[in-house]
Amino acid sequence: MLSHKAPPPPCAIVIFGANGDLTKRLIIPALYNLARTHLLPERLSLVGVDHNKKTSEEWSAALKDFLAQTLAKNNEEVDETLWGQVARCMTFLSGDFEKNDTYSRLKDLLAELDEKQSLGGNVLFYMAVADRFFGTIAGKLGEAGLVKVGGPDNKQNGFRRLIVEKPFGHDVASAKALNACLLKYLKEEQIYRIDHFLGKETVQNIMALRFANGLFEPIWNRDRVDHVQITVAESIGVETRGKFYEATGALRDMVPNHLFQLVAMTAMEPPVSFDAEDIRAKKAEMFRAIHPLGLGDVVRGQYDSGIVGDQKAKAYRAEDNVSPESAVETYVAMRIQIDNWRWAGVPFYLRTGKRLAKRSTEIAIRFKRAPYALFRETPVDELDADWLILKIQPEEGIRLRFNAKRPGPAMALESVAMNFQYKDYFKQAPAVGYETLIYDCLIGDATLFQRADQVEAAWALVEPVLDGWANTTPRHFPNYAAGSEGPSAANDLLARDGRSWRRIN
Ligand code: BG6
Repeated sequence: MLSHKAPPPPCAIVIFGANGDLTKRLIIPALYNLARTHLLPERLSLVGVDHNKKTSEEWSAALKDFLAQTLAKNNEEVDETLWGQVARCMTFLSGDFEKNDTYSRLKDLLAELDEKQSLGGNVLFYMAVADRFFGTIAGKLGEAGLVKVGGPDNKQNGFRRLIVEKPFGHDVASAKALNACLLKYLKEEQIYRIDHFLGKETVQNIMALRFANGLFEPIWNRDRVDHVQITVAESIGVETRGKFYEATGALRDMVPNHLFQLVAMTAMEPPVSFDAEDIRAKKAEMFRAIHPLGLGDVVRGQYDSGIVGDQKAKAYRAEDNVSPESAVETYVAMRIQIDNWRWAGVPFYLRTGKRLAKRSTEIAIRFKRAPYALFRETPVDELDADWLILKIQPEEGIRLRFNAKRPGPAMALESVAMNFQYKDYFKQAPAVGYETLIYDCLIGDATLFQRADQVEAAWALVEPVLDGWANTTPRHFPNYAAGSEGPSAANDLLARDGRSWRRIN
């Protein structure tokens, strides 16, 4: 995490997928933002690998152009000094990811750049490519000897690290196969599996809230907590990603990765230190404690046409590259049980979906009601329970809802809120959410990245549901209007337990 506040060592960053969306939208802007905060390596070589023909100058100019367009939205111009730090040594290497020759040329190029810039042999490989290439690229890098490290600390000739984007497999078998492929040539500590939710400040703040305050941890358990609701609601539809989404669906796209990471941050036991291995061990323990999911614990939905904000939105089945009879879910809600001493009997309700009423990601912790006895002789007929709500996005903050007495002679209660908003306290540097992740990888801190066993455990949890759904066609799709709160079956899931969802809107 960025607490180190020192620039990482000199290095080369090799981006596979140099002409892709991820590179221009997130990686390059994140490097630019790291330059703003003086957290870019003093000597940096950027190497872009992709199949098209391009000169290094063209590659650099195209990225700068896109950055300029993005900054212009905030009335900002590209700062030449900062851009110079990102772009002072950019090389484009045109090559096919599947051909050995690409990797032998890359090897020569890296040797040359290292010689010129004294990079200490340090290289970060970033796979910003479609997931079908992950195994191939890792294998070819391995065969070319490009990820080999030596010495007892595995750093004799500098570091060699690999960033893998999501999706990391699409079920247990494919995740295991991919892990095996990566681990053939790389050691676990060289692999950085990104879940971009962990790059969000507010997600990282969950640990600070829980463990840096004496107040919350003592009540963070089944004695005081009634249940937890985790919502990742999106107002956007599938946009241009119809083809990807038809093969993926909401469950695969969001749950074993982003939502489970939010569960892990909320539910894990306190680690003994912020060391990556201590935190990963606690997360792994928590995953092991999750009770196997049955089909009755899960609800799926698909959006129909409707109104989002004040705009008409089409049905999922009418989106580009989507089958008019698609049975793919765009919404999922589930109830999970964590069978351990802290959480037994406290359900965690999770939901995520596209084309919902509003973009809103939050973790809401509902506390048990106070006993009513004291208020029996008063006009108060029911006590509201207290809520602690961690607002992740787009609003960033923490809200505590509790009961207060309404002024006046009668004992009347009202639920009120104490509200902390990040923007009121902190001036945040511009960020795209990848800054911390890239920086951490450059300094070798794997805290915010997923370990092989974690990824496999998450797939194992959702696999029975994926299998069950694959065998039954949902009869009522589409079952929620675009712009709504989701399918009514999701309400039934909580109603069964005598509970209800917080409103998204
Ligand atoms: C991605 C999913 O991983 O996360 C997308 O593939 C989703 O479908 C996105 O829209 C949500 O991320 P964020 O950061 O916009 O909340």
